[in-house]
Parts: sequence; structure tokens; C-alpha cells
Amino acid sequence: MSHPVAEERPAAHGDALNLVRAEIAEAAGPEAAAQRVVELLHDRFPHYDWVGIYWVSSDGDDLVLGPWTGPEATEHTRIPIGTGICGAAAASGQTEIVPDVDADPRYLACFASTKSEIVVPIFEASEVIGEIDIDGSDLDAFDATDARFLEEVTALLAPLRPRT
Ligand code: SME
Repeated sequence: MSHPVAEERPAAHGDALNLVRAEIAEAAGPEAAAQRVVELLHDRFPHYDWVGIYWVSSDGDDLVLGPWTGPEATEHTRIPIGTGICGAAAASGQTEIVPDVDADPRYLACFASTKSEIVVPIFEASEVIGEIDIDGSDLDAFDATDARFLEEVTALLAPLRPRT
């Protein structure tokens, strides 16, 4: 018997949040912990095709790629705040869900396979210090459940920001 995806997702997300906490607790240090989190998200959720963390640069002007996992490296390792979907989310502090990247003029193309994207800012107090960026190979891959879950993950990631 099959279950609707909408009913399965919250339970999967709840489990994953506990695993994220465990990975962070067990990792050797903040950088290793952040790497383990992106790998866990990628492995647990088939629609999370490419998962990366960008951290805001020390001068506050750019997003700098930190840990990531996925089929290919991105050429966008440094993105000015305000540029692309990533830069928009960092500038506004709002989660961005883009159901069709080809229909969004802000989109900075990374992978031919990407059809949709979600970007969730990471906060320290009320300041954006980074973000999780996830690309999906299906149109409309991400919904409000992903957003809520990833917003909880970002709270766990904030203490892992590299100190420069
Ligand atoms: N697509 C993003 C750039 C980062 S790559 O997806 C990894 C954007 O529009 O900002």
C-alpha cells in the first residue's frame, strides 16, 4: 500500500532532525560537522540533489561556498549578496523556494539538471551569516515542509560558522 508523499515527509524530516543533532554532536569539529550535515541531508532526501552551505564573508559582501555534496562542483563558489537566488535570500533573510529556475530571472545557473531550488538563510541573532542551498532535478521539488524542516536545520548550523 502506498502512502501520499505529503504524509511521509514530516516523519522523515523529524527523524532527520535527530540525526542532524547526532552528527553534529559526534563530529570532530565545526567544519566536519557541517560536512556531515550536508551529506546526511543529501542521503536522506532523494529530492535534495545538490546540497551546499554558503557562509557570509567576513566583510559581509559575499557568500562563500563551504561544505557541499552532490554530483558536480559548482563554479559559483563566491556570490555577491544580492546576486542570484542565493544572494537574494541572504539580502532579505527570507527563505526562497523557486519551483522553476528557468522562470526566475535571478537564477544563476550551476547544473544543467537543476529544475528547482530552495535557499534557507542561517541566522545568528537577527543577522544572516550563511545559508543552505539545495538544487532539485524535478520541477517544484520543494514545499513548505522542506522550508520548515530546513529552517530548523539552520538553527543547528549557526554555531558551526567558521571564525575567520
Ligand atoms: N543557483 C544559485 C547559485 C548557486 S548554485 O545553485 C550551487 C543562485 O541562483 O543563486
